Amino acid sequence: MNVVLFGFMGVGKTTVGRLLAPRLGYRFVDSDAETEQALGMRISDAFARLGEPAFRDVERGVVRRLSGGDGQVISLGGGTALDRGNVEALRGSGRMVLLTASPEEIGLRTRGDASRPLLAGADKLTNIRALLEERRERYIAAADMVVDTNGVPPIRVADAILNRLEVAAG
Ligand code: S3P
Repeated sequence: MNVVLFGFMGVGKTTVGRLLAPRLGYRFVDSDAETEQALGMRISDAFARLGEPAFRDVERGVVRRLSGGDGQVISLGGGTALDRGNVEALRGSGRMVLLTASPEEIGLRTRGDASRPLLAGADKLTNIRALLEERRERYIAAADMVVDTNGVPPIRVADAILNRLEVAAG
């Protein structure tokens, strides 16, 4: 089985994934890092030089490959689970865990970060609110489990996921 962490930028997918993986005895994989490796460039450069659709194509290839693996905690990029094919592939091999946070908290956590092209722009909070609103339904539809991270330290988020995975496994 895999455990797939997904949700908006800045909700802590990578941080929580790194903490969760050893506790399950799973390997940690970050889809953004894998996609950067496959692209041979950073995400911000890929958006600027190749455009978002080309980035999404490569990301889909990474998702297909990771979906074929087992015993992994997979952190997705914020937009990865908006693609229905990606969700189908990942669902077939794992549990989909949606991490959430308020727009204000996401704004704080991504402060001073230039690596996320979709958050670039003058009014970042407005940008976050609009994107979240646009994505919310698709995020919820893809989730087997929703864990709120507002004001919760990453290690406690990992605890909550572990507990709920164990309860679900009986
Ligand atoms: C994106 C989120 C980013 C990265 C890319 C696009 C998105 O990942 O994949 O910048 O569409 O939300 P993180 O959520 O890890 O920042």
